[in-house]
Amino acid sequence: MMKAVEISAPGGPDVLRLVERAAPVAGAGEALIRVAASGINRPDVLQRKGVYPPPPGASDLPGLEVAGRIEGGDADALAAAGFALGDRVCALVAGGGYAELCVAPIGQCLPVPGVLSDIEAASLPETMFTVWSNVFERARLQPGETLLIQGGTSGIGVTAIQLAKAHGAIVIATAGSDDKCAACIALGADHAINYRSHDFVEEVRRITAKRGVDVILDMVAGDYVAREVSCLAEDGRLVIIAVQGGVAATFDAGLVLRRRLVITGSTLRPRSVAFKAAIAESLRRTVWPWLAAGRVKPVVYREFEAGDAAGAHRLMESNQHIGKIVLTWPAGQAR
Ligand SMILES: NC(=O)c1ccc[n+]([C@@H]2O[C@H](COP(=O)([O-])OP(=O)(O)OC[C@H]3O[C@@H](n4cnc5c(N)ncnc54)[C@H](OP(=O)(O)O)[C@@H]3O)[C@@H](O)[C@H]2O)c1
Repeated sequence: MMKAVEISAPGGPDVLRLVERAAPVAGAGEALIRVAASGINRPDVLQRKGVYPPPPGASDLPGLEVAGRIEGGDADALAAAGFALGDRVCALVAGGGYAELCVAPIGQCLPVPGVLSDIEAASLPETMFTVWSNVFERARLQPGETLLIQGGTSGIGVTAIQLAKAHGAIVIATAGSDDKCAACIALGADHAINYRSHDFVEEVRRITAKRGVDVILDMVAGDYVAREVSCLAEDGRLVIIAVQGGVAATFDAGLVLRRRLVITGSTLRPRSVAFKAAIAESLRRTVWPWLAAGRVKPVVYREFEAGDAAGAHRLMESNQHIGKIVLTWPAGQAR
């Protein structure tokens, strides 16, 4: 048996309950992880509300990322991947992360750089995989290009700012307060726009001397799409990863032709294990050395004990946080 946080019914934060559950069993190609910390992501809030069900075959427990120690699993596959029992790993999972024990495909596990705590490591996988796949693979951000990040202090945003800067891009981030804009600059953004007091389209035109940006990472959509299309440079790429502002968009298709724009997007959770393992390999090669060297750092705003998952979700829905919120499992950390 193990402790886990389940969604007892769709609803507000208080539907999250700490319960006893049967421990999951690792199958072929999987690792069993003794979880020390579980990262919280906005999609968990949507799942709790009942509007983002887990993909077929995934655990009904929320949680898309964990960090801890390998306690068991497919011994041959673990050895082939260079992992041993007791190794510290962080992993991307399609569900089941809010639990003391979690099963993860071995290809989606990454070693924890020695400089990082379990709590820091748990904050990494979901945003690292999402940003890598969308900004670097889909939108092919190049060194020297300019990236506009909507929601610069979100969990996704703090990762996107740092990876883009480490890659040699120029970064403009938006956020909803002056304090959050200051946090974006402190993380390395070259410019930050308070989208509540300034029109981001006008600001982008001013900052880029009317040229526009090469890539936009968008988590708003809705009426943002038309404004984003209007501030993309020639051959610009807009990549949509969420629709917080609504799914319907009307925009100037003429600009798409004249400036040869690409509008794309993706959602990570339902993608195959092979797809996610390929991202893990790229992260291990490119980003993990940046983490080990301290060029890219986890940004953990606050941690909560697992019994107070409701408090963690309330904080996320208050939008006060800058960076990531993490749940801790004391038993996992003591080992
Ligand atoms: N497609 C994928 O595979 C994928 C994977 C993971 C997450 N996501 C999505 O990515 C988003 C961020 O996730 P997260 O876990 O990092 O959540 P989070 O930390 O809660 O961030 C949500 C962010 O949205 C920003 N925002 C809301 N309205 C905005 C607007 N009009 N203009 C600019 N920013 C706005 C908020 O900024 P302010 O507080 O400054 O207003 C906040 O920083 C979520 O919508 C999530 O569903 C997608």
